[in-house]
Amino acid sequence: MIHADSGLLGRLRTTWEAALPALKGPHPAAWAPALRRLSDRFNRIEGAPEGDYFDEGNVEPYLAHHGWAQAEALAWIAAERPACFEGKRLVWDLGGGPGVLTLAASVLLPGARFVLTDLRAPALQWAEARLRPLGVDLTTHAQRLPELPSGSPDLVLVGHVLNELPPRNQESLLDALKARLAPGGTLLILEPALLPQTRRLMELRETFLAEPWSIQAPCPCPGPCPMLALAKQWCVAEVPWEPPPWFRSLDAAAGLDRRQLRFAYLLAQRDGPASAPRARIVGLPPPQKGKVQRWACTPAGGEVWEALSRHGEPPWALPRTAEMELPPGLGAPRPQGGNWPLRRWEP
Ligand SMILES: C[S@@+](CC[C@H](N)C(=O)[O-])C[C@H]1O[C@@H](n2cnc3c(N)ncnc32)[C@H](O)[C@@H]1O
Repeated sequence: MIHADSGLLGRLRTTWEAALPALKGPHPAAWAPALRRLSDRFNRIEGAPEGDYFDEGNVEPYLAHHGWAQAEALAWIAAERPACFEGKRLVWDLGGGPGVLTLAASVLLPGARFVLTDLRAPALQWAEARLRPLGVDLTTHAQRLPELPSGSPDLVLVGHVLNELPPRNQESLLDALKARLAPGGTLLILEPALLPQTRRLMELRETFLAEPWSIQAPCPCPGPCPMLALAKQWCVAEVPWEPPPWFRSLDAAAGLDRRQLRFAYLLAQRDGPASAPRARIVGLPPPQKGKVQRWACTPAGGEVWEALSRHGEPPWALPRTAEMELPPGLGAPRPQGGNWPLRRWEP
């Protein structure tokens, strides 16, 4: 399992506390209810929400909670695929709200220039007031996606915003980004780890299957997502984490209970190398007596790996999200209905 570099996490925490000095003491009493209202709203969102949900009262608790989780997700992805982030100079953070991913990426990429867009001007104003004094080279634009800023970015960050666009705008945004990313450029999409939003991302990833694009993570499978054939399954990263104490106390006060870092993501690159032929554990089938099973995504598609419990714990019996070399000892794929063949492991 890959862990975000602890030095990077330490620098992120220092930066968060500099942007939000209130984190150094007990959090303001109004933060937890404001965060709870915001979270309830996000869990209800379908289609394009109109009206302002970032206002003076909730930008800061958002940054302290959802924002910190986004920062840790970015750090984890950068640790998993560092080459996708190296040397990026011009970064767009689209639908970036108060600049959560801008702030996190500015720690990862000191010296980069950031363009932050959002349709909500108060969120952009907050970013200007708080991020620029920290040395972030920031330009903001009040824009409605799929409209884009000018220029040709090296890295585009789209965090928890795709699900707020109607489907036709999601598609036109991705097409427009494909036309605009610089050679070697990287696109990172983060979405909430919820079923409808994640399955939509699993569909939209098909936009990046043809050259010059490659999907760098999370998918080992170069074809359409095999998990779409499994009803009610969705492909998310689940990572153990140790967020700062101020996150934990705000999380508990808002009744949110975020024990694990969970996120849906797609990391695509223009002109990037094809990703290595590895496998990823993407789920645990319902338990079966006497058997150990995992759903694995592989370069050949989805597979069910199975071992008999009497043979002991197989080395691939890892948690969801673990990535690995294809393990030796798996038998030939046996069709079993659907498109996920079964492979029996013999030690
Ligand atoms: C849940 S917030 C995510 C903020 C930030 N990207 C993050 O990762 O935390 C979604 C943001 O998308 C913005 N948004 C929604 N629809 C948009 C559109 N059509 N054009 C631009 N921004 C949009 C909202 O105003 C909001 O700031």
